[in-house]
Amino acid sequence: MPTAFPWTDHNRRLVPLKLAVFVALFGPAAWVVFAYGAGLLGARPLNEAIHEAGLWTIRLIFLALAVSPLRQIWQWPRLILVRRMVGVAAFAYALFHLSLYVTSESFDVGKVASEIVSRVYLTIGFAALLGLSALAATSTDGMVRRLGGRRWQRLHRLVYPIAVLAVIHFSFQAKLDLWEPTVMAGLLGWLLGYRVLAWRFGIRGYLAWPWVVVLAVIAAIGTALGEAAYFHLAFHAPLMRVLAADFSRTTGLRPAVVVLAIGLAVSAIGGLRRLSVQHGQRRLRASRV
Ligand code: HEM
Repeated sequence: MPTAFPWTDHNRRLVPLKLAVFVALFGPAAWVVFAYGAGLLGARPLNEAIHEAGLWTIRLIFLALAVSPLRQIWQWPRLILVRRMVGVAAFAYALFHLSLYVTSESFDVGKVASEIVSRVYLTIGFAALLGLSALAATSTDGMVRRLGGRRWQRLHRLVYPIAVLAVIHFSFQAKLDLWEPTVMAGLLGWLLGYRVLAWRFGIRGYLAWPWVVVLAVIAAIGTALGEAAYFHLAFHAPLMRVLAADFSRTTGLRPAVVVLAIGLAVSAIGGLRRLSVQHGQRRLRASRV
């Protein structure tokens, strides 16, 4: 039976987690609209709104990608209930982002089309948007049935190249300040790395907890090396000097450190959750004896 509303299950019962996420997904868009109306978006409000909508699009793509690893690491299977909603929201934010861009170009669709063709970062963004449209259009229960589980899964693996395109689009438009795109690239490394490790070393797709800690370190090292390689190739900065910045207190919070902190925080929550589940099981066994 198809779900009646995004916040209900197949038996049409309210699922609080789904309702909470559904409401939360409107938050950023509501804030952008409100801040725009209230004049809180600075000297170039439309440009700022485009940026906010773009940021939320990429964040939501990443959150949708994070659902599978997090439900395993945190032993929270019900998280899967919100994956489709988050993915469709990413598509909605991408449309919002594009609409704001069309608005900033005074609705001159011809100009927007020619910009998309001539500016590489827009072409890449548009390719990502097309990919997201295919995923959103096939996200219904009916489409899963029509395509069949295997074909549907194969099509939805498109989310990986879409996430890569999103990071490239983000990096290309960022010009000089690559702090956040570098963090996103590192997190993408974590998300993709989880799949590779789970496939290679996992048991039925589940990765043992120590691997999750190892992954956090690998993703951070990858981020540091990627950043150093970029600065070396683009600006001939000495590799070791960029790498040394990751250990300096004067260079602010480096992307590799942020990626490490997020990876370790995810692992720590997973570790605590594991301990509490084991404790609960032990108490249950003891109460039965
Ligand atoms: C899945 C698709 C897309 C994602 C994830 C995405 C994401 C982003 C992100 C994260 C930013 C930077 C925000 C910031 O720096 O604060 C951005 C900027 C931007 N994006 Fe996208 N975008 C997508 C598609 C598109 C499309 C289809 C267009 C238009 C054809 C577009 C046009 C722009 C423009 C004009 C900017 C601002 C550039 C500037 O100010 O120089 N994006 N986008």
